[in-house]
Amino acid sequence: MTNRAQRAQSQRLSSTTAGYGEARQWWRPFKQLNDVTVIHIDLSPNGPNEREAQAWLDSDERRRARQMRHRDAQRRYMLCRAALRSVLCDALDSTNDRLSIVAGDHGKPSAVVKGCPAPISFNVSHSGRHGLIALADYGRIGVDVEERTIPRRDIDALACRVLGSAEQAELAAAAEQRKLDLFLDLWTLKEAVSKAYGAGLSWGVSNFEIPQSMRAGAQCSRLQVPQAPEIIWRIHKLGTDDFAAALAYEEPER
Ligand SMILES: CC(C)(COP(=O)(O)OP(=O)(O)OC[C@H]1O[C@@H](n2cnc3c(N)ncnc32)[C@H](O)[C@@H]1OP(=O)(O)O)[C@@H](O)C(=O)NCCC(=O)NCCS
Repeated sequence: MTNRAQRAQSQRLSSTTAGYGEARQWWRPFKQLNDVTVIHIDLSPNGPNEREAQAWLDSDERRRARQMRHRDAQRRYMLCRAALRSVLCDALDSTNDRLSIVAGDHGKPSAVVKGCPAPISFNVSHSGRHGLIALADYGRIGVDVEERTIPRRDIDALACRVLGSAEQAELAAAAEQRKLDLFLDLWTLKEAVSKAYGAGLSWGVSNFEIPQSMRAGAQCSRLQVPQAPEIIWRIHKLGTDDFAAALAYEEPER
């Protein structure tokens, strides 16, 4: 596939597909890392975008959205899922009505076109006003985003649960603001690897550690974890001033 970031700039669900007039777009290319394209989704409240997003969902997705008790969670889900549909339709040269997004054993979604598994890897994350989609032609891929403004009162308790001993020691020694930034970096990197593997919450993330070079500021590294020692992961920080975020993808075999 060619540079998806460029193609994403012009992608739209065709009006005949969505059944709507002029298409709206609340997502944009964010980063291109080797063969992986990352797209940012604006999840701020926006009535017209939300109405259009809802129109793009299939009946199962609309049912899921209706069942969500919290309006914010519902908005995030609809805006993300509709953006994902558009991005996948563009990448797979499909129409929206032929595309299904199905969940595997532990909930990881994959794409199906006209009943056949589609040749694409992707993952989605949302937090506050920010969503990210990562996609590539092949290989496992995971992405995680955490908005920085969400209050975090329970860092120490969470750290004991998700960090290894060297990571915990480094966090304990960090000054207050650095502590939050370091924790969110470690959390999103671990969550991205866990989401790339797709095993869900059963995957203990405290029994692997993010390489020291990244804890000291490097933007990317390689990682092997005991749960799946045969896989070499490439991990990248994707954060901005507004959110912490990370990407993990399987290094292609040479
Ligand atoms: C299910 C899980 C992946 C959701 O993560 P989250 O941080 O609550 O939410 P995110 O916004 O990052 O991701 C949600 C999206 O991930 C995708 N997803 C769901 N299950 C998934 C799985 N098993 N693997 C990968 N992706 C999954 C879905 O697309 C979902 O969005 P959607 O419901 O709108 O389609 C997560 O709870 C989980 O299993 N984490 C694993 C490990 C862990 O212990 N983490 C602790 C912190 S380091």
